[in-house]
Amino acid sequence: MDMAISSVATQVVSVAGLSKHFQAHQVLSDVHLSVAAGERVVVCGPSGSGKSTLARCISGLESYGSGTVTVNGIAISPRMRHTELIQANVGMVFQQFNLFPHLTVLENCTLAQRWVRRRSRDEARLTALEYLAKVRLAEKASAYPAQLSGGQQQRVAIARALCLNPSLMLFDEATSALDPEMVKEVLETMILLAQDGMTMICITHEMGFARAVADKVVFMDEGRIVQAAPPDEFFGSNADPRVRRFLSKVF
Ligand SMILES: Nc1ncnc2c1ncn2[C@@H]1O[C@H](COP(=O)(O)OP(=O)(O)OP(=O)(O)O)[C@@H](O)[C@H]1O
Ligand SMILES: [Mg+2]
Repeated sequence: MDMAISSVATQVVSVAGLSKHFQAHQVLSDVHLSVAAGERVVVCGPSGSGKSTLARCISGLESYGSGTVTVNGIAISPRMRHTELIQANVGMVFQQFNLFPHLTVLENCTLAQRWVRRRSRDEARLTALEYLAKVRLAEKASAYPAQLSGGQQQRVAIARALCLNPSLMLFDEATSALDPEMVKEVLETMILLAQDGMTMICITHEMGFARAVADKVVFMDEGRIVQAAPPDEFFGSNADPRVRRFLSKVF
């Protein structure tokens, strides 16, 4: 009994039998995915295979036809209550940074803390400065987003998400919109988070990152998970032929 409880407690994400369609188009078919506390999962696959849709289902942004999605044991759906959404607390980082252009870096990081977490001005500020230091941008606290490079803006977006103390960080192609020289600094920040033990789902085609950081690499095709395996196995010669075909294109 005790063991059953502790195994449930360490499971952060549990997706079971998840299916979704847009009209006649099946976008997710019977997807199963579990992510334990501290686990790093990389999701890859061709364009249109359903990666972002899966991420949006996990973060409560998207409705789904059948199956279950839980984060921290809380059932996720777009109709969930505000308090449940806060308890589940999924931090998301997208390709577009979506910073407020008229707010400083610091204000971008304190806004949600004040509104969602009801933190005092001082507490929100201290938390923001702590995470800005973590992404090595403390000195940019009073700058505006337009005064930062793309890589720096993305690191602010990461700090902003971390300020809410998420139980899970979900990255959806966080480096795809960046110039090559800025990809590295954002990946380094993601690696730092992984080393800190953050539970992460990263949708990315950065296979070097997958090899270095992932506990599990998930390959999706046509709305299904075709393979989910540790990197050694995933990048090994026994991988599914669809995986090998995909890898031969991205490398
Ligand atoms: N709101 C929507 N209405 C209709 N179809 C949609 C909608 N959102 C996504 N789709 C379709 O669902 C499928 C999966 O899309 P999704 O964005 O999840 O793919 P993806 O794997 O993230 O692709 P990419 O690598 O290009 O980001 C695609 O065929 C897409 O056209
Ligand atoms: Mg996508």
